[in-house]
Amino acid sequence: MPHEEAAMTYVCMNDFRDAADLTLVIREESVTDVSARERLLDVAFGPSRFAKTCERLREGRAPAQGLALVAHVGDELVGTIRFWNIQAGPGHAALLLGPLAVDARHRSLGIGRKLIAEGLFRAVQRSHKAVILVGDAAYYNPLGFSRALTHGLALPGPVDEARFLGLELDPGALEGASGLVMATGARAPRAAAHPQAALLRQAA
Ligand SMILES: CC(C)(COP(=O)(O)OP(=O)(O)OC[C@H]1O[C@@H](n2cnc3c(N)ncnc32)[C@H](O)[C@@H]1OP(=O)(O)O)[C@@H](O)C(=O)NCCC(=O)NCCS
Repeated sequence: MPHEEAAMTYVCMNDFRDAADLTLVIREESVTDVSARERLLDVAFGPSRFAKTCERLREGRAPAQGLALVAHVGDELVGTIRFWNIQAGPGHAALLLGPLAVDARHRSLGIGRKLIAEGLFRAVQRSHKAVILVGDAAYYNPLGFSRALTHGLALPGPVDEARFLGLELDPGALEGASGLVMATGARAPRAAAHPQAALLRQAA
């Protein structure tokens, strides 16, 4: 699989054997991707996405440096993944993964897994040691994420414990991690508010 970190571009056709004219490109997100990314997330999660507990760790923050990725097929943005700087209890710097979404017409082609793999690859390159997320164990367990690594941790809001998972990029990185997960990312430049966001945050 060719990988050109300098261009921050990843090209893979492995999962398009039946549609060889389509090339999947995974690269770092740019400002021109934002509106298409937001549309994809609105459709994938609905308006309640802003009420999720993990949103408390993302709101007002910029994603971790170099770890907001998008997948394109041709001109179309078909996938998004972002990682966020957090502290998984005192002394345990880590990343929060999410949201991850793939356009419904492009699912089950491996794009979700490729976005995760590419994100984790770049996270390791940037010396990140661990990743946590809230997501379906059936999807994330085969990728190495485990509930066992987050038992001592609490999120700033309600969560289905079975969906609270962790992954060590550096073995032992989450050993002894306990306490409240807190956002540590850089403050985001003030952006135009999403029409649903303020209302749903109040309702949450
Ligand atoms: C979850 C999601 C990102 C997967 O994207 P994708 O590109 O289709 O994923 P992949 O192609 O890598 O994997 C697809 C496989 O995962 C399975 N899968 C998808 N979502 C799953 C879930 N929530 N739980 C368990 N398995 C799941 C599919 O059934 C498929 O199985 P198959 O390969 O046997 O057909 C996509 O379905 C999506 O955007 N869903 C809506 C948003 C969402 O739920 N995001 C994840 C938040 S944790």
